[in-house]
Amino acid sequence: MTNFAFVYNQLKELEADKLLRKLCCMTPAQGAAVSRNSSSRRLVNFSSNDYLNLACDGRVVDAGCEAIRRWGFGASASRLICGTMEPHVALEREFAAFFRKEAALLFTSGWTANEAILRALPRKGDLILMDKADHASIIDAAAASEAEFRTFRRDDLSRLNRLLEKTKYNRKFIVTESIFSMDGDSADLAPLVNLKKAHDAILIVDEAHSAGCMGATGAGLAEELGLLADIDILVAPLGKAFGAAGAVVAAERAVVDYLVNTARPFIYTTAPPPANSAAALAALEIVRSEPQRRRQLSENASYLRRRLTGKSLNIGNSMSHIVPVIIGEPHSALTAAERLCEKGFLLVAIRPPTVPPGTARLRISVQASHTREQFDALAEGLADVLQA
Ligand SMILES: Cc1ncc(COP(=O)(O)O)c(C=O)c1O
Repeated sequence: MTNFAFVYNQLKELEADKLLRKLCCMTPAQGAAVSRNSSSRRLVNFSSNDYLNLACDGRVVDAGCEAIRRWGFGASASRLICGTMEPHVALEREFAAFFRKEAALLFTSGWTANEAILRALPRKGDLILMDKADHASIIDAAAASEAEFRTFRRDDLSRLNRLLEKTKYNRKFIVTESIFSMDGDSADLAPLVNLKKAHDAILIVDEAHSAGCMGATGAGLAEELGLLADIDILVAPLGKAFGAAGAVVAAERAVVDYLVNTARPFIYTTAPPPANSAAALAALEIVRSEPQRRRQLSENASYLRRRLTGKSLNIGNSMSHIVPVIIGEPHSALTAAERLCEKGFLLVAIRPPTVPPGTARLRISVQASHTREQFDALAEGLADVLQA
């Protein structure tokens, strides 16, 4: 007799609503191809965030392997005990310079970075203002913070302005993604900068999906718009374009020192493996020295968006390498994903609660190494499956 009847019931409900999620085991094959669950069948992977194909780049892999030999695998302690090693320090120095901030701090993931910032900086009496589509790590961190929080929509900044005008709060924090992870559209960073300046607010930008991919040197959307200096805190998860893991937070030195002293998700956890920092540093070097990768990514994404809109598929307001094909109900998105898998494409159905009800979708992640033939075949496959 199990004590977990409530768990079984919940799983059954999720299954009935077509919302049950399951893990699949992937094996990387050539370029943007994978095989799934030990099958010998290759699928073109349109779901990976390895936008610049750096996760399997020989230089990144070699840097990681060499670092394992030199530093061992695990860091053996938290950063403040004896887990800080040269690769961590070098990574923080280089990323601070990359984002043109005084200092940077490495976290074990983007999730913990957002959690750390929003639980350490906003206090009781403060207000956190988040875009409605912000990542779950931001939403959960804001909900757990001592501060109050409200959401705004990026297509209605008048609400944000009204919230910023409220005088009963001590400090106000605006938190946004730069490229939204499920929609592929962008935050209007220039008006956000103007609002934060007008109201003496603090602006935090999560560049998870643009760092490495946008900007003259690859520092992200804020760099592309000439706004790096106006962003108070930049968050750059390394598990996407940098092909590694962890996240860097870049800000002025005092903010980093403050996080080192107060951010519990930083203090009370084992330092990330030093080899991960060494690999991420090698990836950063490639991002800096091979701008052709992000040019190719951008050309690929424009090409795909044109092909999909040409087929009258609903890609929302995507303007980036994240291109959703919005379908509606979870069962339709699941069926479409299964049929596309039969045609040789890996596209995962994204369903509520990750996206709002009625907007289940296939989220296409473009990679620099995808080819026009692959995009053409995908567009045909999608039209075939969705417009049959
Ligand atoms: C915008 C955004 N922020 C943070 C994260 C979390 O980063 P990590 O995967 O490193 O925890 C993600 C995705 O995973 C994301 O899309």
